[in-house]
Amino acid sequence: MKKYLVIGNPIEHSMSPKLHNYWLKENNINAIYDKRKLEVSELKRIISQVKEEKINGINVTVPFKKTVIPFLDELSTEAKDTQSVNTIYFQNGITIGHNTDIAGFELAIKYAKYDLANKKIFVLGAGGVSPSIIYALRKMKVSKISLSNRTKEKAESLKNLFKDIEIVDWGERIDFDMIINATSIGLKNEDSLNFDYSANGPDKYFYDVIYNPKETLFLKRAKLFGNRTENGKMMFIYQAHQSFTIWNKIMPKINEEVIKLI
Ligand code: ATR
Repeated sequence: MKKYLVIGNPIEHSMSPKLHNYWLKENNINAIYDKRKLEVSELKRIISQVKEEKINGINVTVPFKKTVIPFLDELSTEAKDTQSVNTIYFQNGITIGHNTDIAGFELAIKYAKYDLANKKIFVLGAGGVSPSIIYALRKMKVSKISLSNRTKEKAESLKNLFKDIEIVDWGERIDFDMIINATSIGLKNEDSLNFDYSANGPDKYFYDVIYNPKETLFLKRAKLFGNRTENGKMMFIYQAHQSFTIWNKIMPKINEEVIKLI
């Protein structure tokens, strides 16, 4: 029986096992997908199990997307350019780290039929998923990317990867067409970003990477002010879809039933 894992800390909240196990069953694949909470000191050991083929693939979530890199033999271009790995697989005797968050975000935006070309984008947060979002936004030819993070140094270190982004002080408000919450604010229902929703006028696009809860206060309030909103559910599904396809060489279905699972 094949074995897949998602690793992170915390990990209880992860919906990846539910989705992957559903697709494994649908496609009659004899495998199980589990979740495991790890400490940094355990990363080397778990990745060596991929080389020993005791584990057939790993998804990596917060806070290890960057810290796993030294333990891998090779990185895909996307993983290298973002310094972020969310998918590990074994091929031709080597362990490879790849990033499917980029395609996940890009496909989710296409699914939502939002045209990003020449738009001004404001990204909030410089944590684990932010480099992938910035990479995807550049690929989709937006006109400008501004980034703001409570800890400014983290935003500045992302500017080393993506020289053309603008860093904005935390709390400062700027003009945008689309704003993306890539912070963890909102994971708890009562959490909310301190934000002046009336300053930019209606008809902006508010995107939250969070999909559980389904509608964060950030999205709820944005909607009340006449903006378009979207949560991170399709991004989550598409990144999983890409990982599954790499590991199993089968493209699983994304239909109403799958979308309802999450
Ligand atoms: P990690 O930082 O380990 O990558 P993450 O969940 O991917 O974890 O990122 C958390 C993001 O939410 C960070 O951008 C974090 O800001 P800091 O870099 O300043 O920590 C942001 N964040 C979390 N709680 C916040 C809060 N109460 N106010 C502002 N930003 C917050």
